[in-house]
Amino acid sequence: MAIRHTRRDIILLLLGAVSMRLFTFFFYNPAPLEMNIDTDHHSPPTQEVHHTTTVIEALTTTVTVTLKPESRPRSTLDLAPQLPPTSLVAHAPGWTLFKNLYMSAGTLYIVTDTPSEFPKIRLMASNPLPAENTPQNIAMREPTAYNMAFLTPAQANRRWGDDVGQNRVFTIDGNTVLVNEPQQFLRHYYHLVAELMFGVQAFWHGAFAKPSFDVDREYVRGPHPAPPPIDRVMFARSSADGWRDGPGFNAYFMRAAFPATTIEVQEDWEDRVEITETGDRAFHFPQLLLTDRSASHRGAICGSQTQRIAAEAVEYMRKRGQLVGIRVGGWWEPVRQKILRFAGADTSFDAAGGESTQLPMPAKIVVTYISRQSAGNRKLIPESHDGLVDALRELVERKGPTWELNVVEAEKLTRDAQLQIIARTTMLLGVHGNGLSHLVMMPPTRLSTVIEMFYPGGFAHDYQWTSRALGMKHFAVWNDTYRSEGIGEGKPRVNYPDGFQGNRIPVDGPTVAQLIENRVGGKL
Ligand SMILES: *[C@@H]1O[C@H](CO)[C@@H](O)[C@H](O)[C@H]1NC(C)=O
Repeated sequence: MAIRHTRRDIILLLLGAVSMRLFTFFFYNPAPLEMNIDTDHHSPPTQEVHHTTTVIEALTTTVTVTLKPESRPRSTLDLAPQLPPTSLVAHAPGWTLFKNLYMSAGTLYIVTDTPSEFPKIRLMASNPLPAENTPQNIAMREPTAYNMAFLTPAQANRRWGDDVGQNRVFTIDGNTVLVNEPQQFLRHYYHLVAELMFGVQAFWHGAFAKPSFDVDREYVRGPHPAPPPIDRVMFARSSADGWRDGPGFNAYFMRAAFPATTIEVQEDWEDRVEITETGDRAFHFPQLLLTDRSASHRGAICGSQTQRIAAEAVEYMRKRGQLVGIRVGGWWEPVRQKILRFAGADTSFDAAGGESTQLPMPAKIVVTYISRQSAGNRKLIPESHDGLVDALRELVERKGPTWELNVVEAEKLTRDAQLQIIARTTMLLGVHGNGLSHLVMMPPTRLSTVIEMFYPGGFAHDYQWTSRALGMKHFAVWNDTYRSEGIGEGKPRVNYPDGFQGNRIPVDGPTVAQLIENRVGGKL
């Protein structure tokens, strides 16, 4: 008796699970975007499906007889009489968030009856060749019909469906970031973390945030509602080695900031291309952010103002009021917190920040000079370096115990140790170069400042734009002169004069020390 009851119970439970499962198939609709906005509980559709699947499989092992093969779960799309058309959630040049994008034989397909409602393909995708600044190369990077194309739903159903309504479209569930650029830039800490992933975070966070121009929200650093998780990042044009930098910060960043995100590379993408080569079947991405470096450069903000791909993502979301804490890097803060917690850095100071419209003053003025003197190029003249260190020492000693100086040769410290110092830094100082990428991990305070030394006459936007995007002040220094956007003559023009990359960069130490003193004293 007891046994029979138990078995009946199991079968009832199983029926319940199966009908729940069928219910999920037929009636589950992913919440529209607007419904996701104000809540912390974004459970993506995949989570529910996975959970239910587990229940069935666990029971299957005990009472297999009652489960016919046909009642095994099938992808929602298998049951769809029509393929869901592609829709556009958000778009800036080089940054496009789609629902229902398809890929077959290497081509990304937008399935729609109204292609005119989509941006120009060249603003979404490119032929992903390494970039050179020549007219031929620029022309060759224009997208072709192989890179991206439109299909009507009828065409798509003819290609990938059959007469009995069973299609050959296979869903890659969850949220995907597809990076359509070669490894040329990806293998640099600055370009991967402070540019690409910086833009991904802005675009992804912004796409799921409620628009608001409320001034209070411009200063919110956190916590704020998290966007849905990114299930995978596909570096489709880079080998496994290609997105990893020498010092190992890219892998450190990706695994610490996105520990559950799967990373696929070119070999994985090519599997998917190769097995769909006949064109009669396709993969389907329910939600996909396509990033494309060359397409960003076709936009006005990146192409002619900043040369920063992330600038297109940040500006698009900023204009719509969709970046929380726009003045204080609040939208980036969840990533920063995760990295610093991973590094074992002290972030207790940050937590005290709160949500006032004033950033906190730092408890201590920490000046960090990232020295390149043992790097291969872009070094200060040795006397300039010594003079700078002397002037900084003199300043910090004169100011007393509430000031601190770190002279850092990054390559001699572990990644953890570097980040622990940055997590406390108020004034980050260095010659133009990758060491300054750490600025994205600096704590936002009322005094947070990046000071970048250039060969006289030289200038580039990399760290200037990035500092400003996080609400920090940036100064460019040329020997005994300096400038910041908003004072003096404004932003200088991009320029790489002879000597820019060389090892004879002059800097007048007392000028830099005076700049720091004036900035902390509220004069700059
Ligand atoms: C740098 O500035 C110092 C101080 O004004 C000056 O003596 C020196 O000649 C300058 N060096 C260069 C290369 O301009």
